[in-house]
Amino acid sequence: MKERNGDSSTERRGNGSGEPVIELKGVTKHFGSITAVEDVSFEIRRGEAVALLGDNGAGKSTIVKIISGVIAPDRGEILLEGSRVAFQSAKEGRAAGIATVYQDLGLVPTMNVWRNFFLGAEATKTSRLDVRRMRNETAHALAEIGLRNLTSVDQNVMRLSGGEQQALSIGRAVHFEQKLLVLDEPTAALSVKETDRVFEYIGLAKEKGLGVLLIMHNTANALLVAGKVIVMRHGKVAARYDLTGTHDDMLPTINAAISGVE
Ligand SMILES: Nc1ncnc2c1ncn2[C@@H]1O[C@H](COP(=O)(O)OP(=O)(O)OP(=O)(O)O)[C@@H](O)[C@H]1O
Ligand SMILES: [Mg+2]
Repeated sequence: MKERNGDSSTERRGNGSGEPVIELKGVTKHFGSITAVEDVSFEIRRGEAVALLGDNGAGKSTIVKIISGVIAPDRGEILLEGSRVAFQSAKEGRAAGIATVYQDLGLVPTMNVWRNFFLGAEATKTSRLDVRRMRNETAHALAEIGLRNLTSVDQNVMRLSGGEQQALSIGRAVHFEQKLLVLDEPTAALSVKETDRVFEYIGLAKEKGLGVLLIMHNTANALLVAGKVIVMRHGKVAARYDLTGTHDDMLPTINAAISGVE
């Protein structure tokens, strides 16, 4: 029986029911004399969205880079579905199931939609690119996530709006059954309407059982989809909130934690 725990916004936020997709334990990273991240531990479960919030320089993007394999931590460990991983590159992270969507990275603007969709996962047939299959699969997958306004999967990605580009990136993660979707400021450059759409896609990713790590400057927006909040300050976890079943307005509390006002 489906458990009900309150109003629709609480349900939308939802909590992961499954196993942890990823666990960080005591992760620490220095850049020279700067401690960007210190002793950070948290986990994200299947079907759960965790918002990582904090002021500029709090260490959020460094966490993203560590999780996705762009940089290695100095200390601590990362478990992906229970097994320890130590990625040497973003490519390795991607191959293991970590899909990272940056505000303006991850797509090649001068390539068309289907090439971008299959970037790094190209389908081949007798060692040649299976173009027909990739075009069809891309069109099908994008229609499934509601990107129906695309006139053609052959058009260049630079002609898509910011929201459509995000949708393409998220759709790609869902389609290739990645385990964790990491979004670093995915809506920073988007209109309100486009932002809403991105939230819908995040909801879809959760439904499909992906764990989601969401980084945002707008706390109110993050609370629309996140079941848990982790606040970072000066590289450390300053506060954690589990929003499942919470009916209180947590916005002032969380914003106070972000700015360090007790
Ligand atoms: N490659 C680097 N070399 C030196 N210092 C770095 C490097 N990357 C990050 N830092 C420093 O580490 C700290 C954390 O940076 P990070 O980018 O993780 O913050 P953030 O929370 O993502 O901030 P923002 O909200 O502005 O994106 C900052 O003091 C930053 O200057
Ligand atoms: Mg950042």
